[in-house]
Amino acid sequence: MAEIRRIGVLTSGGDCAGLNAVIRAVTHRARRAYGWKVFGILDGTMGLMDRPLRYRELDSEMFSGFDILRAGGTVLGTVNKGDPFAFPMADGSKTDRSLDFVDGFHSLELDALVVVGGDGSMRILKKLCDKGSIGMVGVPKTIDNDVHGTEYAVGFSTATNVVTEALDRLQATAASHHRVMILEVMGRDAGHIAVSAGIAGGADVILIPEIPYTLEGVAKRIREVQQEGRSHALIVVAEGVLTPEGERATVAYAGGQTRYGGISQYLSDRIAQDTGTETRVTILGHVQRGGIPSMRDRLLASAFGVHAVDLVAARKFGRMVAWQDRGVVDVPMEEVCIGPRSLDPNGTLVHAARGLGIYVGEVNAA
Ligand code: F6P
Repeated sequence: MAEIRRIGVLTSGGDCAGLNAVIRAVTHRARRAYGWKVFGILDGTMGLMDRPLRYRELDSEMFSGFDILRAGGTVLGTVNKGDPFAFPMADGSKTDRSLDFVDGFHSLELDALVVVGGDGSMRILKKLCDKGSIGMVGVPKTIDNDVHGTEYAVGFSTATNVVTEALDRLQATAASHHRVMILEVMGRDAGHIAVSAGIAGGADVILIPEIPYTLEGVAKRIREVQQEGRSHALIVVAEGVLTPEGERATVAYAGGQTRYGGISQYLSDRIAQDTGTETRVTILGHVQRGGIPSMRDRLLASAFGVHAVDLVAARKFGRMVAWQDRGVVDVPMEEVCIGPRSLDPNGTLVHAARGLGIYVGEVNAA
């Protein structure tokens, strides 16, 4: 069995705070403990698919200042489009470029790959690595926190801190104007961000894709708040929530890409009508992904990075590092790559929210 001397690390999918802390931890551990060379692949899978290959060698000295630990984003760059198995070409067709990736890996003479990605990236990278017999270890990251096998993914803590702070700010202006403020947050088809930050930020209503709701239920809670003597209210809605008629709100971007977004405007109009109260909408967007990583994300990223390298050293490939029961463990990729992890509608967080009087959707619908 060939000795491990050179490993690659790449970040794939949407960026988030804490990615640089993972890259730093992987580099420190691989170089200091094992004496390996570490190559950062630029722009996710693209760095190995493009010719010439795009990468940079990472050394501990590069990270000896403390800036990287504190910096948001990823110094390696990332992409969240362009599946190598169905790669979009200039003429609009799609082609399989997976072998470009595999050849790129081998021509850089890498012995293993650490993939920092969310649920979608993890699935594609596993398929690529299986195809090329590449030893892969995964590190979960996504503000959505919807990766199976781990309680927390890197980026979630910072994002929820941002949302909580946004609610703190919105509360003051909501109170001044006697308004209902609707804050739309990211998360795709999962309500992890909305529920955690909604509880922490004192929301009156939290709407998530996992639990059906009614406009009457929302209006009832707003009226209750008003009867209790408070003339303002806070609503958090996850971007993946559908209208009661089952319609999805999306935003179209140039190049044919669409993203979730806009459900808050729909709700705003309906709630204003139903309650006679003035409403305003804030769509937080990519603010949730940027900024200085929280303590928890730096901690998670650092512990994950070290454990990922130790897995490579032990040749325990096809596994993802994970956080479970107050510690770092690792789980097989097969248990991870089964689609996004939803929030449990019967779990403790929803129970806590309801216990606080928050309307989280219809009780018997969950
Ligand atoms: O998966 C992370 C995420 O931020 C989602 O919450 C959001 O729907 C999506 O990415 C936005 O993607 P983009 O950065 O391409 O706009």
